[in-house]
Amino acid sequence: MSHQNNLSTPLNIVAVSGGLNSPSKTESLVQAILDELAEATQIHVHFIKLSEIGPLLGGAIYRNQLPQRVQDDLAAVEAADALIVGTPVYRASFTGLFKYFFDFVEQTALVDVLVLLAASGGSDRHALVLEHQLRPLFSFFQAQTLPIGVYATDRDFTPEYTVKSEQLADRVTLAVARALPILEWAPTKGKRAEVIKAKTEQANQNLGINKQIEQAEVLPSAAVPDLDAAESRLHQKSNKNLTQVA
Ligand SMILES: Cc1cc2nc3c(=O)[nH]c(=O)nc-3n(C[C@H](O)[C@H](O)[C@H](O)COP(=O)(O)O)c2cc1C
Repeated sequence: MSHQNNLSTPLNIVAVSGGLNSPSKTESLVQAILDELAEATQIHVHFIKLSEIGPLLGGAIYRNQLPQRVQDDLAAVEAADALIVGTPVYRASFTGLFKYFFDFVEQTALVDVLVLLAASGGSDRHALVLEHQLRPLFSFFQAQTLPIGVYATDRDFTPEYTVKSEQLADRVTLAVARALPILEWAPTKGKRAEVIKAKTEQANQNLGINKQIEQAEVLPSAAVPDLDAAESRLHQKSNKNLTQVA
């Protein structure tokens, strides 16, 4: 399987905001990042707002108990070329509903997926929520969190919750500028969706949300420009291990 980088193919971006309010500063922040990105490159956006789907999660413990809309949102997350995730700070962390949503994401579906981290809080003192809460969550998924995240406080927004401060606008620009070369390099644009579909379908049918869905194929990854080479290296390694054991 060969994956060519195709600049004319839009990046499949899925945004997730953990804000429960509407209007929401977090949603405005995520939208500002999307707008900046859309100015720079072609993107296709699916924006998931916990303010809309939060009540639909309703105590489900199995993925197939979730309404179709939420299952479709989970499928979109798993098929994304890159995620932009944002959450308000609640008690020094992401919101419970943000985490609850990601608890349903199949645990190997985000391997090597690029993730831009964002958060809004009432206080500057919780800016490290990006590093101490969000980044470890996406490290668990073996996703590739982008080096620059965006943190905003209440002071950065107008009363209508649009981005007011120049510092925040600059930070958004910087985060997107640093993300762009990595996103543009992603060789799989849109193609992850094809490969991940079977995994998502299995995850939806499977009762246990903690069950890892096996998939023989190496997933198209933003980090691996040549999948054939990556796969043959993996096979070489496992053959070597087998020889050593024998
Ligand atoms: C239950 C709750 C807990 C909060 N905890 C914190 C906190 O620990 N640290 C902080 O800086 N802000 C905290 N805040 C303030 C929100 O993070 C902040 O107002 C945020 O921008 C709200 O985003 P939203 O408009 O998207 O809902 C809290 C707000 C609520 C409602």
